[in-house]
Amino acid sequence: MADTRVKFCGVTFKNPLAAASAEPTLNAANMKKCIDSGAGAVIAKTMTDSAGMRELTQRAKWRFLDQKHEVCHGKVPRGFSLYSRSGLALEPPDDFMKEITETIKYAREKDAVVIGSIASTDIDGWVSLGKQMQDGGVPMVELNFGCPHPKLMPGMRTGMNVGQDFDYACEITRKVSDALDIPVIIKVTPQVNDLVLFSEMLHKAGARAVTLTNRFIGFVPDIQTGQPLIYGKAGIGGPWTKPLTLRWINEVRTMLGDKLEITGTNGAYDWRDIVMFIMSGARIVQMCSAVMCYGYSWLDKQVKGLEEFMDEKGYKTIDQMLGIATDSCMEYGEMPHEKASVNQALCKNCGLCLKACFSGAMQQGDETVYLNEENCVGCGGCYSVCPVKGTIEMVKC
Ligand SMILES: Cc1cc2nc3c(=O)[nH]c(=O)nc-3n(C[C@H](O)[C@H](O)[C@H](O)COP(=O)(O)O)c2cc1C
Repeated sequence: MADTRVKFCGVTFKNPLAAASAEPTLNAANMKKCIDSGAGAVIAKTMTDSAGMRELTQRAKWRFLDQKHEVCHGKVPRGFSLYSRSGLALEPPDDFMKEITETIKYAREKDAVVIGSIASTDIDGWVSLGKQMQDGGVPMVELNFGCPHPKLMPGMRTGMNVGQDFDYACEITRKVSDALDIPVIIKVTPQVNDLVLFSEMLHKAGARAVTLTNRFIGFVPDIQTGQPLIYGKAGIGGPWTKPLTLRWINEVRTMLGDKLEITGTNGAYDWRDIVMFIMSGARIVQMCSAVMCYGYSWLDKQVKGLEEFMDEKGYKTIDQMLGIATDSCMEYGEMPHEKASVNQALCKNCGLCLKACFSGAMQQGDETVYLNEENCVGCGGCYSVCPVKGTIEMVKC
């Protein structure tokens, strides 16, 4: 049977699935449920010394939206969005640490890892929260430079307001890393130009790993009322963000390799996505929205799905999958030439490929389409839309 263990920041995790820092990890009771559901790790809701950021969570609101960005009211589709307003951990640090230490004790019996998450509004605060986490016994701490909500609050210098100020973020990273003995992970916002540059700067400032990435800010009007959904702009994400996240995981792995470890979040819906995150280069995959939609038992299903996939494909360890897709990427100039090949005996003459061809390669014949090979650039549009498997194949030439 496949071995799902993976090493991250010097610690062995029994599997790569972590419950991300959010409401499912709001307190010890919730974190225990994630652990009971088989998560390899829980990342506690972000502990903060900012009363303003704690208070937001008392006013939390969220909606699951369908592909039209309307409230689902029933079955939540695979491509949903989670549109949410929320803050950080409810309790002040001294109280929240009790939740953490209680969870650590519980996690030990279940072979799960508890990761701390912190956010402050000044450098001394970041250092002191980090020390509190270390003294409480977490093996590593995540600094939340990605929370979108401070952007919506005038003058709030935390979360993505830090993550968008690379120099300030590195100053915090350096001070916290110097003050702590445990590894420091930086959770970044995707709302910047260059996460490769930022990751390199964070590495030089002492970060052991990066969390790629927190969520976006969005805006959704309700067209029936003319009012903004949940009263205004909010954090937005969902499974559709996955390729955007994987792009950064791909680029950071490509540029920094083993120098900086990667944990991924923002778009992991199920075990297939966990595999995609790993094949892109993430050792640990953090999941939030899907758990908030389907409940804690969703975690268990994904761990089992991952095990089954590995067995079926013959992957014995997570390391055998780590970054393999990223490491196989080709530049445009390196790609082999391809052309479409049409099996006219299978063609149902539906015409879909004709609509999807823009190089004049697919042509209408008497009873089926045929290929004008000279015009074919090998884009694969026809192959993607053809509804009859095997009718159109892409062949290297
Ligand atoms: C309601 C809600 C609350 C969240 N709270 C936190 C938080 O306290 N700290 C943090 O680092 N990220 C927080 N996040 C972000 C998640 O940890 C996660 O990174 C993000 O939702 C992307 O993962 P997903 O696509 O699996 O949802 C929150 C997300 C949501 C939806």
